[in-house]
Amino acid sequence: MSNEWADWLSRNGTRQFHLARKAGWNAFVQAAGREPLRRLDRGALARLSPVERADYDEARTVWNANLPTIRTSQLVRSYSIMDQVVASSRRDGDRLRGSVVIDSPAGVGKTTIATRYARDFHRRIYEREGALTDEGHQRLPVAFIPLSAGVTLKGLNTKILEFYGHPGAQRASTTALGSLAVDCVLSCQTRMIVIDELHFIDFKHRNGMEVSNHLKWLANEMPVTFVYVGMELEAKRFFDEGLLPDQSTYAQTSRRATRCPVSPFDISSDSHYQAWNYLLRAFEEHIVLADARPGMLTELANELFRRTQGFLVSLTNIIDRACWIAIATGTERIDETVLAAVTVDNAGERAASRR
Ligand SMILES: Nc1ncnc2c1ncn2[C@@H]1O[C@H](COP(=O)(O)OP(=O)(O)O)[C@@H](O)[C@H]1O
Ligand SMILES: [Mg+2]
Repeated sequence: MSNEWADWLSRNGTRQFHLARKAGWNAFVQAAGREPLRRLDRGALARLSPVERADYDEARTVWNANLPTIRTSQLVRSYSIMDQVVASSRRDGDRLRGSVVIDSPAGVGKTTIATRYARDFHRRIYEREGALTDEGHQRLPVAFIPLSAGVTLKGLNTKILEFYGHPGAQRASTTALGSLAVDCVLSCQTRMIVIDELHFIDFKHRNGMEVSNHLKWLANEMPVTFVYVGMELEAKRFFDEGLLPDQSTYAQTSRRATRCPVSPFDISSDSHYQAWNYLLRAFEEHIVLADARPGMLTELANELFRRTQGFLVSLTNIIDRACWIAIATGTERIDETVLAAVTVDNAGERAASRR
């Protein structure tokens, strides 16, 4: 039997986007936001039938687990750097474009920043130029390529072809793969390529150097802005291409790439503390629990910071787990007792136990 909440779930359930394939990326770009979920107070909760209650709790769990993307100051600043680099990408095709490098520790929101920015970019071009190119190819303004451990030159090209669904992805030789990848990018008129998890390339190793040189070659061949995303890229010598210090002035990457650092939140000054509170308030407004109220999270600002050290990944985990506990135990709000019952990720727990 269907009810309001089961219907909501059928339209707004958990979505699987496979961003590394064009179909999945397109679905992500085109996805509409979830329909808002109604908050019921305790009286209304008590009047639900057991089936309705189970559906409502499931709907709330989906809703609470998908916190909105907040325009944090880190995000706004990164967008502005990317806007500047993209502005110069209007250079004619024979001139080299710059690239952006989002470089920071894990779990601060790098992938979120890059994918959201690329999604908006994709939508704008689609709206202006339509779904097909003049030659009748599918227009794909953005390609998203996440790397995996120990990636080689061949692996990189294969991943690019897989994104475009090119049938040659598994067969062609390494050199042929490279030109096929360029063909895909040109025929679909891709303008931005996001390469995520770039830290999987070891720039000091021969394989890594090959990949790094190939990325430079691709940047020369294609009228595309590259957005590189990874951890500790400066330390991993991405910018100086693994060259020895006395040769590193020859590194082209350093001159072409604009670094965009993203930091975790900190609460050491008033303005930082305010930013942390702004974030908590935005999450607080989203959460659907019967006894949720303004101040529910901001009053726990210090404790939430202690538990998460300002890392968005740990914060979103602790909040959606706390929501789940609040529903399962009938507490219907987040307070210190609920937080104490939540286990977060390993790094968060270890760091919190030292404070
Ligand atoms: N601006 C944001 N607003 C809300 N949640 C965010 C934001 N940025 C990141 N997150 C949350 O933090 C988690 C980790 O972010 P992610 O972008 O994967 O980090 P990274 O790529 O740096 O490891 C995401 O799953 C997302 O839920
Ligand atoms: Mg990431």
